[in-house]
Amino acid sequence: MSGIEEVLAKAREFQERAYAPYSGFRVGAVLEAEGGALYGGCNVENASLGLTLCAERSAVVAAVAAGDRAFRRLVLVTDGDEAIPPCGACREVLAEFSPDLPIVSFAGDARREWTLSELLPRPFQLADPRG
Ligand code: THU
Repeated sequence: MSGIEEVLAKAREFQERAYAPYSGFRVGAVLEAEGGALYGGCNVENASLGLTLCAERSAVVAAVAAGDRAFRRLVLVTDGDEAIPPCGACREVLAEFSPDLPIVSFAGDARREWTLSELLPRPFQLADPRG
């Protein structure tokens, strides 16, 4: 498992690439796959506002497109001074692949940790996905 400082440094690189002209709130996310690969994402806003993509979902898309679907940690870094958890939509998307994912979030000097199952104890699931 990569050291938290290494993963945080990568999350900061992705945060620098955030496209957030509407909110001014930049988010970087790094998903660490079970095999050790690191996948980054950033928020990408849109003039419609509603089509904005969060950093966490952008990292999931990068990972799944690269062939990884099992993750052991999510590291977030945001603007502001209050470490935030992923939004509800991102929780559902993360739970699709790793329902008990450990999450570490940084903002300024603040650091907070959760597990995804604590943030989203009952994710939506199809009883029979092909039914
Ligand atoms: N945002 C994320 O990237 N992740 C979250 O979990 C919450 C919100 C982004 C979306 C938008 O670009 C900005 O933060 C303000 O909501």
